[in-house]
Amino acid sequence: MTDSAKLQIGDKTYELPIMVGTENERAIDIGALRKLTGLTTLDPGFVNTGSCSSAITYINGEKGILRYRGYPIEQLAEKSSFIEVSYLLIYGELPNPEQLASWQDKITNHTLIHEDMKHFFQGFPRDAHPMAILSAMVAALSTFYQDSIDTDPECLDMSTIRVMAKLPTLAAFSYKKSIGQPLVYPSNELNYGGNFLRMMFAVPTFPFALDQELADVIDTLLILHADHEQNCSASTVRLVGSSRANLFAAISSGISALWGPLHGGANQAVLEMLGSIAKNGGDVNKFVALAKDPDSSFRLMGFGHRVYKNFDPRAKIIKRLCDNVLSKQKRVSDPMLEIAKRLEEVALADPYFVDRSLYPNVDFYSGIIYKALGIPTNMFTVLFAMGRLPGWISQYKEMLEDNSRIGRPRQVYTGKTARDYVPVSER
Ligand code: SDX
Repeated sequence: MTDSAKLQIGDKTYELPIMVGTENERAIDIGALRKLTGLTTLDPGFVNTGSCSSAITYINGEKGILRYRGYPIEQLAEKSSFIEVSYLLIYGELPNPEQLASWQDKITNHTLIHEDMKHFFQGFPRDAHPMAILSAMVAALSTFYQDSIDTDPECLDMSTIRVMAKLPTLAAFSYKKSIGQPLVYPSNELNYGGNFLRMMFAVPTFPFALDQELADVIDTLLILHADHEQNCSASTVRLVGSSRANLFAAISSGISALWGPLHGGANQAVLEMLGSIAKNGGDVNKFVALAKDPDSSFRLMGFGHRVYKNFDPRAKIIKRLCDNVLSKQKRVSDPMLEIAKRLEEVALADPYFVDRSLYPNVDFYSGIIYKALGIPTNMFTVLFAMGRLPGWISQYKEMLEDNSRIGRPRQVYTGKTARDYVPVSER
């Protein structure tokens, strides 16, 4: 006997099935609601509404739990690699040695972009935001790689390899374009993070010494950003993909959604906020007061989360990584990190934040590490996109495998009722 919910409308009672997930989450299945009752539901921002069932990522916001395919994020961050985690998210299981080697090989051998794609970079203004370039260039992949844009499994595997392999190249090229330096081609003997750092910072005038420890930090950060169930950008990828638009088009839309300062763009906004606090003599109390002021639109960037009502487990790991990177660079600390730690202390002691369960999220500390690694602020969200890519791909693939119907939400119309046209001479 499955559990059910009873809905009383007028003198009628309706019964709706309750679905129970493998972690005992329960949801009222309203699939038949309109047919049964003639009514729809209304839930702006989908605060209470599930769009799908999914076997990819589990989050428990109250307990601060995050697992990819059942594996705790803490274990994956410590023991795995981004390439291995990407395979896990996309194909559902940790790869055996042969599968891992083959996956690594396929990605390594597709890191170059078509030479003609380089002309696009000449067309962008020098100060173009790299997220705009990335979104445009990923959509353009569907013009250069037309042989793999269908949605059958074979094409999907090919376009998965292509976008996984080429995103770091496109990202690094957009950075080199913005600083007027020559593009640096990928080098096949480096790992994902190392290749990206080399394409970002190598110059033809002298040999590039890769700091493997810093490359490993990038790899861990990419793991921490790899998926997060039905967040804004993943839901965008699913919705675009539900029309059977190709993977490149869906990922391009996910990049655009991630760019917003309330989502992935928050990591750039956090650094800008910390910079303003530093310019204001480091007065964190003034900014906390502003964030609490109902008449001010200012929010503490990097704080709060739709799902986590406890510490974001990723923020805890990133905070530890921060200290490691700064001590490795023989820096007692970074003024931004000092301000961030003070800001966190003040906010977490303030009833406004405590009552609303507002804690630091993944974006609060990540920007400080990126800055310490020499990544420019406007590239922070690009790194978030690189990390989130396997998550977007896995969500798109699961949507196709579930043969999902096209996403088409309903609405409640609150506009004018029927009225007749009035010729302009009579208005
Ligand atoms: C990411 O969904 C995901 O999983 C996202 C992500 C992922 O991995 O994909 O985790 C990545 O996007 C993290 C979030 C990054 N964004 C920020 O750091 C921007 C600052 N945070 C907020 O804008 C906000 O907290 C959101 C957008 C993250 C969540 O917004 P919600 O769930 O819609 O919450 P809300 O706006 O309804 O806020 C509830 C209350 C409000 O106050 P009251 O109306 O109750 O008086 O909390 C307040 C808000 O004003 N509030 C904040 C705040 N966040 C919420 N007040 C001050 N500062 C903040 N940061």
